This record gives sequence, structure tokens and C-alpha cells, in this order.
Amino acid sequence: MFRKLAAAALLPSALTGVLAAHTGSNTCANVHMMLARGTTESYPGLLGSLTDLVMAAVPDSDYEDIIYPATQEGSTPSYEEGIFNGTAQLKAYVAACPESKVVLFGYSQGAMVVSDMLAGGGDNGTLGNITSPSVDPDTLGSHITAVLLYGDPRHMPNQTYNVGDVTATGLEALSKYADRLHDYCDDKDGVCDAAGTNLSAHLAYATIWDKTTATWVESMVEKM
Ligand SMILES: *[C@@H]1O[C@H](CO)[C@@H](O)[C@H](O)[C@H]1NC(C)=O
Ligand SMILES: *[C@@H]1O[C@H](CO)[C@@H](O)[C@H](O)[C@H]1NC(C)=O
Ligand SMILES: *[C@@H]1O[C@H](CO)[C@@H](O)[C@H](O)[C@H]1NC(C)=O
Ligand SMILES: *[C@@H]1O[C@H](CO)[C@@H](O)[C@H](O)[C@H]1NC(C)=O
Ligand SMILES: *[C@@H]1O[C@H](CO)[C@@H](O)[C@H](O)[C@H]1NC(C)=O
Repeated sequence: MFRKLAAAALLPSALTGVLAAHTGSNTCANVHMMLARGTTESYPGLLGSLTDLVMAAVPDSDYEDIIYPATQEGSTPSYEEGIFNGTAQLKAYVAACPESKVVLFGYSQGAMVVSDMLAGGGDNGTLGNITSPSVDPDTLGSHITAVLLYGDPRHMPNQTYNVGDVTATGLEALSKYADRLHDYCDDKDGVCDAAGTNLSAHLAYATIWDKTTATWVESMVEKM
């Protein structure tokens, strides 16, 4: 069911996406999605259905997975590897394909990876060491057309880019992307909503929101 236009990105090798971009063996797409999956998911995980909708609607679009372990954060350096690799893959793609519109998708731990690439993160405590943004908003970040997050553990209430049932959101660095960012947190999703413990809510984003978010991504790539 799930189809992929960039054949090279199908290969499990951790280096495939970067090498393909470096060698130019991969044609540059008009719209290139980069996916960071959630904890313990296989590639591409819950974000696959959204990616599929966008690829069906947007000509010359493809995707690559951000290669990282997606093991439990806290006990492994999974999410730090995600930030490192996601940044390296983004740099490589933009260097190879400077005209392409890049779209970032992150779910759960993957949303934390993407938002920390853009805004930095951490609290020197349970959320890990405090980190700076790894993507400069004025150079690398200017190639990013849209950012879509589902169930971000870093979700902050009351931000303009928040969507979903929880009216919330707040990092100054992330707000640089406010015109291109939708951060979905649903009511009582304990991963992103401090008031909740509903795991079903954390697992329901694709079912509830994919049609809406695909339409939003389409409007963003048409606009820019
Ligand atoms: C991903 O991160 C690991 C550990 O930091 C590294 O060994 C590997 O080369 C990275 N892969 C990519 C594609 O950047
Ligand atoms: C976080 O930890 C780093 C390294 O230990 C330290 O340099 C920094 O001052 C700490 N920041 C805060 C806000 O505690
Ligand atoms: C976090 O900071 C501490 C103290 O500076 C360091 O020992 C540790 O390796 C850091 N953890 C990660 C994941 O970078
Ligand atoms: C978000 O806004 C609501 C309503 O104004 C307020 O009650 C709440 O304290 C705010 N939360 C944060 C974290 O700023
Ligand atoms: C938990 O979330 C699911 C999915 O959004 C929803 O259908 C269900 O009603 C929620 N349960 C509670 C107790 O809020």
C-alpha cells in the first residue's frame, strides 16, 4: 500500500539517503519529505500514511527516513543520534538539491528530534542535556517549507503554531518557524499533554488528522 518514489531511500542502509544525495544518483524532487518516526516504530511508522497522501497529491514529491534507532529515550542516546543524523541528512540533501522544498515530519520521539533540530531542547534533567538548534534558521532552515509534528514530548502550551485538541505551545527558537509549523497535540495524549494519560490519543494522530495535515502540506508547497 505504501509507495515510495525515491527507490534509493528504500534501502535499509543508514547511509543511503546521504550518499544518494551526495552522489546525485538520486534525482532532486520538487518536494522532499524527511520523516522521523516514533519510539520503537519500524520505518516509516505512523507518518507513512500522511507521506503517502502527500505523494499522491503532489507531483514530483518523495521522502527519506531520518536514520536513527528510535529506542527508548533516556536509556539510550537514540534521540541525540536522531538530531545528529537528521541534521546531516538535511544538510546533504539541501547541498545536493538546493531548489527542492523540504518538508519535515516528526512523530513522538521523532517530533522531539525535529523540533530540537530547529529549536534546541533539553532541560538538563529528564528531557536530556540542554542543546542548541542544529539547523540555522537563516541558511539551512530557509529550505524548509513545512514542519508537521504529531504528539511532540516537547509540546508547549499556548503557541500560535499549535493545532489539535490541546490549546497550547512556546519556544522562541521554534517560533521562527511559526509560519511553516503545525504542532499537533490531542487532548490527554500524555506524551505531549501534561494533563493526560491516554495512550490511544497518542496513537490516533494519523487516523484523526492525516487528511487535514496532507491538505495543509499541499497548500504550503504550492505557496512557497
Ligand atoms: C547516524 O548516527 C550514528 C551514530 O551517531 C552514526 O554512526 C551514523 O553514521 C549516522 N548515520 C547517518 C546517516 O548520518
Ligand atoms: C546545563 O548543563 C550544562 C552542562 O553541564 C551547563 O553548562 C549549563 O549551564 C546547564 N544549563 C542550565 C540552564 O542549567
Ligand atoms: C549530558 O551532559 C553530561 C554532563 O556534561 C555528560 O556526561 C553526558 O554525556 C551528556 N549526555 C549526552 C547524551 O550528551
Ligand atoms: C495557556 O493559556 C491558558 C489560558 O490563557 C492558561 O490558563 C495557561 O496557564 C497557559 N499555559 C501556559 C503553560 O502558559
Ligand atoms: C482517548 O483517545 C481516543 C483517541 O482520540 C479517544 O477516542 C478516547 O475517547 C479517549 N479516551 C478518553 C478516556 O479520553
